[in-house]
Amino acid sequence: MSSGLAHEINNPLTIIKFKIARVSRLLTQDSLDRASLATELETLNRSVDKIATVVRGLRVFSGGEDGMTAFTPQDVTEIVTETLGLCQEKYIALGIELRLKNASSLKTECRRVEIMQVLFNLLGNAVDAVQPLSEKWIEVEIKELRNDIELSVTDSGSGIDAALAKSLMQPFFTTKEPGKGTGLGLSIAKGIAESHGGFLAYDASAKNTRFVLTLPKVQMHPQLQAEKLVG
Ligand SMILES: Nc1ncnc2c1ncn2[C@@H]1O[C@H](COP(=O)(O)OP(=O)(O)OP(=O)(O)O)[C@@H](O)[C@H]1O
Ligand SMILES: [Mg+2]
Repeated sequence: MSSGLAHEINNPLTIIKFKIARVSRLLTQDSLDRASLATELETLNRSVDKIATVVRGLRVFSGGEDGMTAFTPQDVTEIVTETLGLCQEKYIALGIELRLKNASSLKTECRRVEIMQVLFNLLGNAVDAVQPLSEKWIEVEIKELRNDIELSVTDSGSGIDAALAKSLMQPFFTTKEPGKGTGLGLSIAKGIAESHGGFLAYDASAKNTRFVLTLPKVQMHPQLQAEKLVG
């Protein structure tokens, strides 16, 4: 994960370095080109924001916030964009087109870090899958159902062989070469989904390779309910 993250930070840093040199050059000119200066500063600002996003994502990941244990209402789109912020530069470098569909503000009660982990896993699998393909895209879609929220990751692959699909979620099942995959990604993701009262499924009916995470909008708190019954 860390080599990927270095990329996410190094790219905007390179841009910043380059743009500062450009601004310095503009400042040495006799007449001040305000328009160009403004454009360069805008790019600088975007690159700084980019780094801030990555750092924010890391802080959440490392458990610095309460997302570790507590179920709290979270904006799903925010979780998605924060996770994507941790891998976007990699997509650009690998020529993978990223699409985000139906991102509206929807809340779900969840453990933020864990949902980020699930998404990070699904995205990582999708990256591995599309890399050898000529058509490379990954689509993340957020859908609102009646009581649930559906978060899906589809990649440009053409689905998974039925025989393989049966074993995907089993711990240590991997088709990746030794040292590349542990085969734990999906089984951990499935465990997280279930601990949220939701589920993770491979969608065999989709034209492309699609995984769906379904999460209830509201958690049934067994503890609270027990207290209500007693009280
Ligand atoms: N998007 C996908 N396209 C094609 N095959 C996939 C996809 N996602 C998962 N798989 C298959 O499922 C297997 C298990 O995935 P899982 O995430 O559990 O482990 P892994 O990716 O192999 O290892 P790790 O997650 O530890 O890097 C993969 O090895 C791959 O064969
Ligand atoms: Mg994986």
